[in-house]
Amino acid sequence: MSTSAVEHAPGHAQAGGTAARARALTKAYGSGETAVLALDSVDVDIARGRFTAVMGPSGSGKSTLMHCLAGLDTVSAGQVWLGDTEITGLKERELTRLRRDRIGFMFQSFNLIPTLNAVENITLPMDIAGQKPDQKWLDQVIDTLGLRDRLKHRPAQLSGGQQQRVACARALASRPELIFADEPTGNLDSRAGLEVLGFLREAVDDLGQTVVMVTHDPGAAAHSDLVLFLADGRIVDEMPEPTAEAVLERMRLFSGGQSQPQTPAPDGTPVTEATDEPTDED
Ligand SMILES: Nc1ncnc2c1ncn2[C@@H]1O[C@H](COP(=O)(O)OP(=O)(O)OP(=O)(O)O)[C@@H](O)[C@H]1O
Ligand SMILES: [Mg+2]
Repeated sequence: MSTSAVEHAPGHAQAGGTAARARALTKAYGSGETAVLALDSVDVDIARGRFTAVMGPSGSGKSTLMHCLAGLDTVSAGQVWLGDTEITGLKERELTRLRRDRIGFMFQSFNLIPTLNAVENITLPMDIAGQKPDQKWLDQVIDTLGLRDRLKHRPAQLSGGQQQRVACARALASRPELIFADEPTGNLDSRAGLEVLGFLREAVDDLGQTVVMVTHDPGAAAHSDLVLFLADGRIVDEMPEPTAEAVLERMRLFSGGQSQPQTPAPDGTPVTEATDEPTDED
């Protein structure tokens, strides 16, 4: 059964309200024969003060969803709100300020400035905004991410994992209320990956921040409060209180059959039968 999903979108809001939300969010790239529908009328509520993971096959629209929710990309149709502010239709200047004040973004491709060293990269957004970093917090971020002895290195002098940690520190440095992280552990060894995940978890539990994280790793997703599953530009399922085993099993169901999109039940109950194909239950 399909619903209007206006009150109950996937990721349905908790008592704390929504940090970000989208209705009928559609994003197409290109036009005509070569057009790609990266997001197909997505409804989503990102609960404030919670850790949400986004999973799905390569090309399913995860990065596009993050960019549109963060106001980094324009939408083709639909609406996006950050908190109570609708950002679709906002003027570029207002949008820039809103992003700067409220959002930290860890890009899949880091987006570090090659001519700046690590600490300059970390504080760049605040420098641009004319804000003074909270030195105690900055030190905690730098030490937790193990960057203390790399602060004067430029990105080219850092390993992939170190660059990722700089990008992580940059997103956290200004203590944004909403952090988007696109595969933040993708280039890290398991120990560094766990530290970053622990850090994101603490940001939520101890500081009340909101985290949305794309990951391909069921173990990483298990650190979240809720997993949203994307396929072909639609949210096809969600899983509260995920465990690595349950996520892995869910992914196996996806890849085992056709990715026939399913709408979550109106009460938010996860849809568990994602495929038309019979699967082994033993
Ligand atoms: N700038 C662009 N121009 C044209 N098509 C694009 C562009 N960016 C993304 N796409 C297409 O939109 C779809 C969704 O891309 P997106 O980057 O959101 O996927 P993803 O789920 O993040 O994948 P991955 O796991 O590989 O990072 C893909 O089919 C991709 O080819
Ligand atoms: Mg991506």
